[in-house]
Amino acid sequence: MRITHRAQHLSCVFSVWNRRGLHYVALLCLLSSPVRTDDACPSSCSCAMDSGAVTCLPDGGQTDLPADIPRWTSTLIIKGRNIPTLPQGAFTVNGTELEMVTLSLSHNGIQTIEPYAFLGLTRLHLLDLSHNQLETISSRAFHGIPELRSLFLNCSVSPDATAQLSGALSAQSLRNLYRLELAGNMLKSIPMEKLDIYNLHALVLINNSVENIGIENISSLYQQRRIRVYLALNPFRCNCELEVFYYWLKNSSQCQDAERVICSEPEARRGVPVENLRGEDVDCMNENLEAVSYVFLGIVLALIGVVFLMVLYLNRGGIKRWLNNIRGACRDQMEVYHYRYEQDSDPRLANVAV
Ligand SMILES: *[C@@H]1O[C@H](CO)[C@@H](O)[C@H](O)[C@H]1NC(C)=O
Ligand SMILES: *[C@@H]1O[C@H](CO)[C@@H](O)[C@H](O)[C@H]1NC(C)=O
Ligand SMILES: *[C@@H]1O[C@H](CO)[C@@H](O)[C@H](O)[C@H]1NC(C)=O
Ligand SMILES: *[C@@H]1O[C@H](CO)[C@@H](O)[C@H](O)[C@H]1NC(C)=O
Ligand SMILES: *[C@@H]1O[C@H](CO)[C@@H](O)[C@H](O)[C@H]1NC(C)=O
Repeated sequence: MRITHRAQHLSCVFSVWNRRGLHYVALLCLLSSPVRTDDACPSSCSCAMDSGAVTCLPDGGQTDLPADIPRWTSTLIIKGRNIPTLPQGAFTVNGTELEMVTLSLSHNGIQTIEPYAFLGLTRLHLLDLSHNQLETISSRAFHGIPELRSLFLNCSVSPDATAQLSGALSAQSLRNLYRLELAGNMLKSIPMEKLDIYNLHALVLINNSVENIGIENISSLYQQRRIRVYLALNPFRCNCELEVFYYWLKNSSQCQDAERVICSEPEARRGVPVENLRGEDVDCMNENLEAVSYVFLGIVLALIGVVFLMVLYLNRGGIKRWLNNIRGACRDQMEVYHYRYEQDSDPRLANVAV
């Protein structure tokens, strides 16, 4: 039931009482006005009181946060507005705590989250900050929301703010965090210093710039067996440095979209799923051995060449003699042939034969 319907209901009661006398009309107005203040729907928002949802879309050039969020709000959706900064206690009403469970702030051009921005939202389960342009994230941005289970930050964190994000996500108050979505943020590694401070079960890193996941992050993941990781649409570099990640992918079954984890480099392996590589492909020993064997072959060939030249040099007298001998033998042979030829081509002899 929307708040406007409630207002109609009130005015209906109002008209019934109106027939009985002015005295009661005044009483009713007094009774209803404080109720109206508490239940008021913020201007340019729509409110569904029975489900507890308040939705604020861009309407009539409204920028900034709505002023008086009703106390009964359990879901607040603000979308498509221009909210550069989330200040401290942005969602508290007169310093009192709200019962809010879901807060969606996607597509609002948010650039800065100040310390304790979500203060007072002690029941908050889901926070969606997707599709903003976060450049400054306080390390205390997520303080004061101990019940948070899902945090969505897809396509929202500018590359310069990655280190700040890592600081903000280290908040002890995120101990109940169960699902963290970080798709589309050009991240190169897992932007969390530790994984054992959360109750994390799903880590979504789809569509980032991860080329490899190093041994440090992999051993953290091995220790947190419950965590499921999503890694599609990342430009994996499939050389021998990928070995640790490769075996984690094949061994641990923690990556939920392993078949969509694809090599983008080197050229020869572009488009090949990482899990389809062979052990030798990511074996640095193998790769080094190959290089070493080529170098070794080169050295051996060079040595053979040098030995050959030395033999030639040392035997230069003998070789000369040998060459002379050959030349002499050839000449003798040629002379014999010459003689035979002359005999064969003698016309007189030919006539005799006929
Ligand atoms: C907030 O508190 C001030 C005084 O403390 C009061 O005048 C005002 O009506 C309160 N606002 C709300 C929305 O409760
Ligand atoms: C991004 O965030 C939304 C919530 O706004 C979520 O539903 C969606 O699954 C997220 N992930 C991706 C990969 O888009
Ligand atoms: C990947 O993320 C970028 C933002 O970083 C976004 O513009 C693009 O649409 C995303 N691609 C897919 C396939 O989701
Ligand atoms: C993941 O790797 C990055 C970069 O090497 C590092 O800063 C971060 O602490 C690691 N996080 C975990 C949880 O291993
Ligand atoms: C797990 O990885 C190791 C290398 O770290 C490898 O030797 C082993 O064969 C793998 N086990 C399975 C079951 O794939």
